[in-house]
Formats: sequence, C-alpha cells, structure tokens
Amino acid sequence: MRVEVQAAGPLRGELRLPSDKSLTHRAFMLAAAARSSSEVLHPLTGADCLSTLQCLNAMGLRHRADGPVWTLLPVNEWMAPQRPLDCGNSGTTMRLLSGLLASRPMEATLVGDASLSRRPMKRIAEPLRLMGATVEGDTAPLRISGRDLVGIEYTLPVASAQIKSCVLLAGLRASTPTTVHEPHPSRDHTERMLTALGVQIQRVSPLTSKLEPFQVFEGFRMKIPADISSAAFWMVAGALIPGSEIRLTEVGTNPTRTGILEVLQQAGAQVEHEPGPEELGEPTGDLIVRSSKDLRPFTISGDLVPRLIDEIPVLAVLATQCHGETVIRDAGELRVKESDRIQVVADGLRNMGAQVETTGDGMVISGPTPLTGTAIDAEGDHRIAMAFSIAGMIATGSTTIEHADSVLTSYPTFFEDMKSLQGVPR
Ligand code: S3P
Repeated sequence: MRVEVQAAGPLRGELRLPSDKSLTHRAFMLAAAARSSSEVLHPLTGADCLSTLQCLNAMGLRHRADGPVWTLLPVNEWMAPQRPLDCGNSGTTMRLLSGLLASRPMEATLVGDASLSRRPMKRIAEPLRLMGATVEGDTAPLRISGRDLVGIEYTLPVASAQIKSCVLLAGLRASTPTTVHEPHPSRDHTERMLTALGVQIQRVSPLTSKLEPFQVFEGFRMKIPADISSAAFWMVAGALIPGSEIRLTEVGTNPTRTGILEVLQQAGAQVEHEPGPEELGEPTGDLIVRSSKDLRPFTISGDLVPRLIDEIPVLAVLATQCHGETVIRDAGELRVKESDRIQVVADGLRNMGAQVETTGDGMVISGPTPLTGTAIDAEGDHRIAMAFSIAGMIATGSTTIEHADSVLTSYPTFFEDMKSLQGVPR
C-alpha cells in the first residue's frame, strides 16, 4: 500500500489509541502459562500480537473474543506445533516465546519474515542454552528443544527487555533461582505483571531482578492501556503543528517507557500528564499535548535510551525542527531493530532536506531546517512508516510512503487517526 501525506493544519481532538504492544504480547503469553482462564480487555490486534496469539494457539491456547473482552483458556498440556511457529515481523514474539518454550519437553521451530530473520537471536539462545535448553540457530529459524531447566545468574550484554523477559519466562519453571543484571533499566512490564500475579520476583537492586524457582500463577483480568509508543507520533506532531491540542487517553505511563516525556520537556514542548488508575501493576494516564514554539535541541544517551528506544525515529523528526544540535548516542540497538533505524532515518530525513550526521551508535541533527516531501520506502518497518508520515505532515509538498501497510504491525488505525485529528471524517 502507498499513502500520500500532505502538510497538515492544526491537529485537535481526543484519541484512545490502540493498546500497548509489549503488554498485549505478555498478557497473551502469561494467560497461556497460567493455571486458570484470563480476561484481557482491549488487546492490541496489530499483526505482531496476532503472531504471538497464533503461535500460542498452535500449542493449545484457546481464546474467544467478545467485542473488546477476550477470554483466554490456558494451555494445560503443551502440544508440539505441527508446523514452524511463524513470528512474522515480531522480535518480541520470537524472543519471549523462546523463553516460554525452553522448559517444555517438546520441539518447536520459530521462523519470521525477512526483517526478523536478519535480527540477532544469539542474545537469547545463549542464556537459554546455559539454562539447559537446546537451541539451534543464532538467527531464525530457531529450533528449540525444551528441557528441565536450571536457573542462572546472567548479565545481559545489552539493555533489552526482550532478552530479560525471555530469561525470566524460562526461569519460571527452572529448578533454582534466576537472576538477571542489566546494563541500563529496560522496560519492566514482565516483572510488574509477574509481581501482580503473585509470582516471587524481586528487584534486588535497581539493575537486578531475582526470580524464585518453580513459580505458578492463576489467570488474571487486565485492561491493556494505550501504547505510549503510538502516542509518540501524535505528541511530536501536536508539538510541531501550530494550533494543535490533542488529548490521548488511558496511555500506559510505566516510568521505564516515559523517556519521551522527558525529552519533550527538554525540548520545551507542552505536554501535561493526568494520572489514571493502575492496570496489573502498570500506571496509566491521559497525555495532553499542545503546539509549542522555539523548540530546543535535546540529548538522548545512557539510561534514557531504553526508556524511549522505539520513539527515536519520530524524535529525530522533532529534532529537525529544534533550534540547535540534537545528539543521540548509545543507541546502537537501533541498528538491529525492524530495520537499521539509524541509517534509514538519517537517509530519509536528509532526502527531505534535514541536516543529519550518523555515528556508530546514533546521530547528530542540526535544526531547524524546512522539510520537503519525498518518497520513503517503509518496507518491513512500521515505525519508519509512521515517523515519516509525521515528517510529511510538517513538510511542504507531498510525501509518499511506500509499503505504508507496515503500520498494521503495531498501529492498524494510524492513517484513520491522522485524518480524524485533522477534522476529516473517517
Ligand atoms: C520490547 C522491547 C524493546 C522494544 C520492542 C518491544 C518488548 O526491544 O524495542 O519494540 O516488548 O520487550 P529490546 O528490549 O530488544 O530493546
């Protein structure tokens, strides 16, 4: 699918964005592993989460959707899948599911699309092998033979919630405790959800979690909050487009995900946060963004990086309009996401007229520079499609997004929401 984006007038209105992708993956996986049935309200039905669901279905998970309320019946006897488990474009599916499978006495092969097949899997294969599982392949296809596992004390090579969660999910059924140390705090949804389910897991220091062996838990009820990574697009567009005012409701505001709010504050953007209720240990709230003038450049480095890793493409768009030099560093992980996001973002923004220099682990963006519409190919990377759509809304002329259907991965209604914020009927 190809979409043409034009310069936009003020964005106004209230949106309940699609639900959080990371939380939906975890809710599906934990519901499969629970001892009784669960109710998940408003799961994200983007392609990534459907990949997780279909893989779990192939091993015995049953689900029924009644409008926004999904009932999930746990897997009592895990069945070896008849065919390879297709994780599609989803790194979270492949990495977390590997952890869930590593302790089940069966064989499974995990495959993915072209983008996922290029992404590094040694980072999860290694700890799972140390725990006792047999994992063949350091990239997809991965062939996993589950075994009785032992816990490990493991230091993550990079700050990655996917690796951490893989090890913790495997550790749930290990015979000794599992301890993970991370170099920087990454999103802690798995730890919060497990704690809310009564699992014995402790944060023993800011960078270390310890899980006790042989943990079981009952089913649960969880309403999945809206995804702050999807909110990011409208927060940036709302800050940049004069006259805008947008309220984003029921957004997940877990502090390990709110790095973008700190960056917007650094830039001088007007964003308000009205706290709401917690959902299975996850804070939520409404975010209100208004357009701002004379935005300042910002720095993203160190501990901040994992707290906004998926928002960097759209924050790079913001940086092109800030007065001065924005520096993004310590973000080498961007090179192994759904695309090499450092290169793809820099190339696309330069084609639109921005001043961007790349470094091994980030980029330096000098602004403000006017942007001009161009053609962008988002093949295989949803966040590139959406970040450049926002760039198109502040550019002159028309911006063509090729393979724009990649938005289905995490934000199926992105282009409808773009219209509704501009007052165009759906
Ligand atoms: C995710 C963690 C992040 C993020 C991804 C989802 C998760 O990846 O980029 O979109 O659900 O745990 P890493 O933890 O590998 O950085």
